[in-house]
Amino acid sequence: MEFEEIQEKMKIIRESPIKLIPDEKMAKIRKNMAEKCPITKKMDEEMRKHVAGGTEHQLTIKDPFVLTIKRSSGTRMWDMDNNEYIDWLMSSGACILGHNFPPLKEEIIKVYHDLDPNIYYNNEWEIKSIEMIKKHVPSIELMQYFQSGTEADMAAIRIARAFTEKEKIIKFAGSYHGWCGQLCVDMHVPFSGAMEAHGIPSGVYKNTIVVPLNDVKLLEESLKKWTEKRSGVAAVLVDPLGSDAGGIATKKDWLKSIRELCDKYNVLLIFDEVITGFRLGMGGAQKYFNIKPDLSVFGKLLTHGFPSSGAVGGRKDVMNNITIDVEPGGNNAFVGGTLRGNPLTAAATYWTLKLMEEHKAHKKAKESAEDLVKKLNQIFENDGRPYFAHNIESIVHFETFSPLALDLSDLNNIEIMLKRNEAVNRIATALLAQGIITKYGNRGFTCMQHTIEDNDRFIEAFENVLQMIP
Ligand SMILES: Cc1ncc(COP(=O)(O)O)c(C=O)c1O
Repeated sequence: MEFEEIQEKMKIIRESPIKLIPDEKMAKIRKNMAEKCPITKKMDEEMRKHVAGGTEHQLTIKDPFVLTIKRSSGTRMWDMDNNEYIDWLMSSGACILGHNFPPLKEEIIKVYHDLDPNIYYNNEWEIKSIEMIKKHVPSIELMQYFQSGTEADMAAIRIARAFTEKEKIIKFAGSYHGWCGQLCVDMHVPFSGAMEAHGIPSGVYKNTIVVPLNDVKLLEESLKKWTEKRSGVAAVLVDPLGSDAGGIATKKDWLKSIRELCDKYNVLLIFDEVITGFRLGMGGAQKYFNIKPDLSVFGKLLTHGFPSSGAVGGRKDVMNNITIDVEPGGNNAFVGGTLRGNPLTAAATYWTLKLMEEHKAHKKAKESAEDLVKKLNQIFENDGRPYFAHNIESIVHFETFSPLALDLSDLNNIEIMLKRNEAVNRIATALLAQGIITKYGNRGFTCMQHTIEDNDRFIEAFENVLQMIP
């Protein structure tokens, strides 16, 4: 769906009343869940005694309790009571072959027979996997593994600073790049500033400049303003889909304009491909949008969720600024990490990409996403709702109350956003109770194993949800 159409539909949603699934219906859903999941509910109580906050993940559905998963296979996961769920969170996008995909598992086990992750020295899978990445992503001349997307983003901005000898980084409002202190500004909600950044001294992000999505003029003003050595802009860091996997739409030529401005002002362009890498196609967002970044950051699908999943790659001259042994007086970016590029991580990368090629994973996942979007739009239309669904390859957005549709530079909108958020959270819980796992109740990732029948189950559950919304 094009930017203009999304904007128009979002405007209608913004102007429509926020309708929550009523409290009494939610109470019934929570009661049914508790009856259906006695052991799982108990596990949630136990978990809270050991894990701070009861879960280690932002995107788990928390209402009425966080599921403890006992088994996963294909598109399915089972809780401790053996209730089955169809998963459209897919490990926050890290999974496209399907859970516990036997061919991938078997190849990793073969590697594990000979090598454990703790060898510390080089292993042949680093060469094999990086060769495979280079085949699909030509901007990668050299690469290094890191231990998560967060760590890789952190390394990328450090390398860029060392190379350019400039300190500032430009990021975009609402973009999430992991939890590194310097990037914890305007993380999810545009214009939320340091709202989510407790525990980080403000000095830590004083060199992070935030520019609104799609605002090429303001981007140029910032680049023009900060050009000096040291105080200037080293790099523009962008999630090619803007923010929240494309939750806020971006204009067609937005990335092209960013590339042109980076060239004009001699600033590096870093693509954060933690979500888009290998999900928008084997060549990631850079092939999809035909824009060549100087550095790229990968995570998640890089290893199909096998630990440790993170990498930075790109131009040889820039990547060569990484040093493992610090030279006194040198200009090198120091990086470290005991488990980086270990044999299991590197083999998981190689085999994930190889199996994705062999199984045409993108094509299948995209077809499934398109089927789901078509069916969702049909039921929204049949029910006379202003809601709409759209997809970018295997990333599905279904907008109902769209908390991100607001401009938070107007503080009055914070309360409205929270109410919209609650409306969407209730949808997430109502779907979960029917065995459907989504991302936040308004997003999903498909894998190559999601079938038409899976989608029909989703639609049936959503039709029930529509009946509950006044
Ligand atoms: C675009 C983007 N960058 C970075 C990260 C951080 O990756 P990780 O969770 O592996 O630290 C995420 C995680 O969701 C992400 O979506």
